[in-house]
Amino acid sequence: VESLRVSSRFGDYEVVAERGALTRLGQLLDEHGVQRPRSVVSNTTVGPLWAERIAHALGTPLVELADGEDHKRWPEVERLIARWLEDNLHRESLVAAVGGGVLTDTTGFAASIYLRGIPWVAVPTTLLAMVDASVGGKTGINLEQGKNLIGTFWPPRLVVIDVETLTTLPERELLAGAVEVVKTAWIGDQELLGAIPSSPEVLDPGAWHEAVMRCVTVKARVVEEDELEGGRRAALNLGHTLGHALEAATGYRRFLHGEAVAWGLLAAARLGRRHGMLGDDGFARLTAAVRGLGAPPSITDLAAEELEPHIGRDKKKDDAGVRWVLPTDDGVAVDQRVETSEALEVFRELQAEGAG
Ligand SMILES: NC(=O)c1ccc[n+]([C@@H]2O[C@H](COP(=O)([O-])OP(=O)(O)OC[C@H]3O[C@@H](n4cnc5c(N)ncnc54)[C@H](O)[C@@H]3O)[C@@H](O)[C@H]2O)c1
Ligand SMILES: [Zn+2]
Repeated sequence: VESLRVSSRFGDYEVVAERGALTRLGQLLDEHGVQRPRSVVSNTTVGPLWAERIAHALGTPLVELADGEDHKRWPEVERLIARWLEDNLHRESLVAAVGGGVLTDTTGFAASIYLRGIPWVAVPTTLLAMVDASVGGKTGINLEQGKNLIGTFWPPRLVVIDVETLTTLPERELLAGAVEVVKTAWIGDQELLGAIPSSPEVLDPGAWHEAVMRCVTVKARVVEEDELEGGRRAALNLGHTLGHALEAATGYRRFLHGEAVAWGLLAAARLGRRHGMLGDDGFARLTAAVRGLGAPPSITDLAAEELEPHIGRDKKKDDAGVRWVLPTDDGVAVDQRVETSEALEVFRELQAEGAG
């Protein structure tokens, strides 16, 4: 067992990582003084694979939400809350969320508003949810107008990570999650770059155990410093300015989030080098780490003009440019102004270079 305590103004919580943890979840909850859940929430994909077993072992009712980012919306929250009412969950009842970031964000959000807030436990089952979504206490859902526009800070009582669940995760999802591992390593633990599994070990869940805990450690440190996102937490957006623009410009259909962030990291590396913050050696290390995860879907057919309106849309932006997070040789610099014309120039360079 490995565990890490995260302090939060909303209540401290522990992140526990153990292979096979899901086969003894009840015991683990007891060990950490957390009550048994009154509802296990999952989705129609992860339910049959993992959550049904958990619910059965705990003797707890299982709720399966619809799968996919398109369902991270009000209707699923209302459906879930209606079910909790039907099952007589009261103010002190605890719920467990078993799934990827979509499911844990939705369930955590519902838990934060049901009867003004009930406790929950997060059991992330994707690499991305383990290294990113599970720590930091953010919950939320999407609106027609954009992603994560409604949300709360409502940390779980406990996060339980079992890398065994990665055995059923599609390889594409695994590699996309690994991009966030590279991002996190660059921000706060560059030695981890050498410990990131490359193929064929990427498919061996055991190979991820250490990387996951080290990412959780970095993210916990960053969010503890800046829980409500005033400054330091922005570091976690490395690679996300172009990444978000690519996702939006392609209607969230072409890229998995991590794949868009892969392009975003390659762009940020170029911008960091141009701005004299990242040396040739650092540039080579960051680029190799991203490329080592395989080629993300192509960007060659995208016109830079299609991208432009989406760059920095979710951020501070003035006439001349957007504030980017740029990589330095040993971390990141936040709040770096980059003119959008320069960002587009770098985008064209990446297109010319192709995926290889
Ligand atoms: N709260 C936060 O701080 C935070 C941080 C980062 C991302 N997020 C959110 O996370 C979401 C993305 O999460 P994601 O990448 O995990 O995507 P996801 O939740 O959509 O999961 C990807 C797919 O894999 C399936 N899946 C999950 N676990 C599986 C398993 N073990 N085996 C087989 N299939 C499995 C899911 O059902 C889904 O179809 C986004 O909505 C994003 O906004 C939140
Ligand atoms: Zn991300």
